[in-house]
Amino acid sequence: MVKSAEYEARSANDASANQTDRITFFEQNGFVGPFTLGHPASLDALHQAMSEALSEPQQAAQPAQNPVLDRRIAHITSRRVYDLATETRILADVADLLGPNILFWMAETIWREPGHDGHIVKSTGQIWHVDVINAWIKGVHVSVAVTEMTMKTGCLLVIPGTHKYDADLPALEKAGECDLTDANSMLRLADRMHPENAPHQIESIEMQAGQYCFTRGGIWHGVSRNNDSRTRFGLVARFARPDIKVRDFGGNPIPCILVRGEDAYQLNLLQRPAENS
Ligand SMILES: [Fe+2]
Repeated sequence: MVKSAEYEARSANDASANQTDRITFFEQNGFVGPFTLGHPASLDALHQAMSEALSEPQQAAQPAQNPVLDRRIAHITSRRVYDLATETRILADVADLLGPNILFWMAETIWREPGHDGHIVKSTGQIWHVDVINAWIKGVHVSVAVTEMTMKTGCLLVIPGTHKYDADLPALEKAGECDLTDANSMLRLADRMHPENAPHQIESIEMQAGQYCFTRGGIWHGVSRNNDSRTRFGLVARFARPDIKVRDFGGNPIPCILVRGEDAYQLNLLQRPAENS
């Protein structure tokens, strides 16, 4: 299995192979990157807006009251979120992976204070998981490092190849097959399920501020603890093709924005981005 760092080195040496390599790597591994966006004005604007929002205790306690901190629908409610997630470079890469017609259907800002235990879900204590709805919608998930995401500050951890396993991880844990808080048990489970790909390994996707990476719905992943003294800031965004019905688990349409190409299918609830927020 090719490591992402090796991919970066290879693609830097051979720009003509870049697009094909990227798609092949993504399909095989379920992730690709990091890639460098740099520091466009949209990155600094979102960082500043998040910092300001969180410095007001009332807003931090009620994130849904602030468009920049909205959960899951920030693509609709926050212009700053929209502007960063739809930077030309990012959309060009999404088009390589999904095709020329692109719907933007989910965005969420992420902030993790010092000592935050990554992605643990409070009610269950689970850390390793699959983003089920993204797998269902066959989406591409983009993670943007607004500040650095490293093993020190906390970063995305993935088990390459697992996006193809169609695994119900909570059910497997219930059956005693794994412990979602124990990375080694997840590796052993992957080895048992697909010995042809053993040994599986954990890839940590470390990114500097202004870098981004892609993951495929269904990949087994977690996020490491923030062991730094600073809060970590990030943005996640999801894109889909317009021939996919973007619905929640209740069958209700999720508002989407057509960000590239055209929508010949008219299956989805299209909205315009926020004017300013
Ligand atoms: Fe996740």
